[in-house]
Amino acid sequence: MSVNDYLQQNREQSVAELNELLRIPSISAKSEHRADTAAAAEWLAGRMRAIGLTTVEVVPTAGHPVVLGEWRGAPGAPTLLIYGHYDVQPPEPLDEWLSPPFEPTVRDGKLFARGSVDDKGQVYLHMKAVEAHLAANGSLPVNVVFCVEGEEEIGSPNLAEFLSANAGRLRCDAVMISDTTMFAPGLPSITIGLRGLAYMEVRVQGPSVDLHSGAYGGAVVNPANALAKIIAQLHDEQGRVTIPGFYDRVMEIEDAERRMIAGLPFKEEGLREEVGAPKLGGEAGYGPLERIWVRPTLDVNGLLSGYTGEGAKTVLPCRAMAKISMRLVPDQDHQEVERMFTDHVKSLAPEGVTVEVEALHGGQPWYAAPSGPVFEAARRALAKAYGREPVTIREGGSIPIVKAFEDTLHAPVVLIGFGLPGENAHAPNEWMSVDNFHRGAEAIAALYDELR
Ligand code: BES
Ligand code: ZN
Repeated sequence: MSVNDYLQQNREQSVAELNELLRIPSISAKSEHRADTAAAAEWLAGRMRAIGLTTVEVVPTAGHPVVLGEWRGAPGAPTLLIYGHYDVQPPEPLDEWLSPPFEPTVRDGKLFARGSVDDKGQVYLHMKAVEAHLAANGSLPVNVVFCVEGEEEIGSPNLAEFLSANAGRLRCDAVMISDTTMFAPGLPSITIGLRGLAYMEVRVQGPSVDLHSGAYGGAVVNPANALAKIIAQLHDEQGRVTIPGFYDRVMEIEDAERRMIAGLPFKEEGLREEVGAPKLGGEAGYGPLERIWVRPTLDVNGLLSGYTGEGAKTVLPCRAMAKISMRLVPDQDHQEVERMFTDHVKSLAPEGVTVEVEALHGGQPWYAAPSGPVFEAARRALAKAYGREPVTIREGGSIPIVKAFEDTLHAPVVLIGFGLPGENAHAPNEWMSVDNFHRGAEAIAALYDELR
């Protein structure tokens, strides 16, 4: 049986297996799901053993474990390290899911479940590609090492150290990651840039207790007003971030990339409809894709203060809090930006309140010139599986460990995404295209042959 026949004949079985993984609520952010997260790691390890990987291990870390699985039976052939994550984002708000987040359901060719596309389905299609080769031929044309972590969605706090400590075991010629999206349905895409992240919490404290807003209001600095004013000062009229030095290291977009972006099949109105906002907005002088891919941002992710229940309560809150993320682009450094943000926000604090700033997590931005044998092989394999030449894109999201892979393992990273626009990652009703799950496995199986 050929590799492709194997994949075709096992389609239903493959989805059934993926569903087992999707039923495990491996929410890394929540301590009450610690056992579930460990169970997802064990499930993956079990499948890795079943498909014939030779050295499979669930390696504990200070946080959630890393699953390693190797097959190094092709001496002289290149070695691919396949990275992904088995942890998922919290599913809330639950009442907005049309089917429960951990009960995978197919509707209209879409597999709905938390983690379906981000990233369990995308990890599992790589395992299917390996399985198909081992089942059909008893061997692989390349060597593979799987490294699947359980802390990506919380910023990969332990993985950089893990990579350094295990660099020998993880030695490879290239790192392959499927945790991104295709630019459009049927249009295969290789991602050559990701933004970095600096995620901050700002806490403003005023009086020691909540106060009657009539009895005291006017004579006491209101921390919610103060925080709103601080936040309002973080952008200027052009939509640029006002933190001194913020743009110093930002690489300006080159004309060639601008033309490349302009050549993609993109309609501003389509994006507006996808997000459902009355109008798109952002930094002056850049188009929407440029704003998402090559420009840094600052966004409030959460705001908390005072009374937010039903009706009116006249209260002057004693504290206010904001979660603020900055998406970064090459060559910004997340630690430097965290310091700049902290200094600037503190300098904006009015008298009468105290302001505390804490960096919660961060990751470096990443960009790679599209070249090299694995990149070329990926192009050919994707063209074969989709019948269309892939496009190269950047994306606005972050995979904090990508830069560390390059720096620690000295291997190029190739990002091939099988997500799609509108897939609702991190939101209610996340889905993965069933067709992309299968076609992705075919493309990856073909990629191994291309590298032979
Ligand atoms: N799969 C995403 C990364 C991603 C999102 C790539 C959108 C391309 C487009 C990943 O699982 C993720 O969500 N990353 C987090 C990282 C953070 C928690 C440190 C992100 O981007 O918010
Ligand atoms: Zn994610």
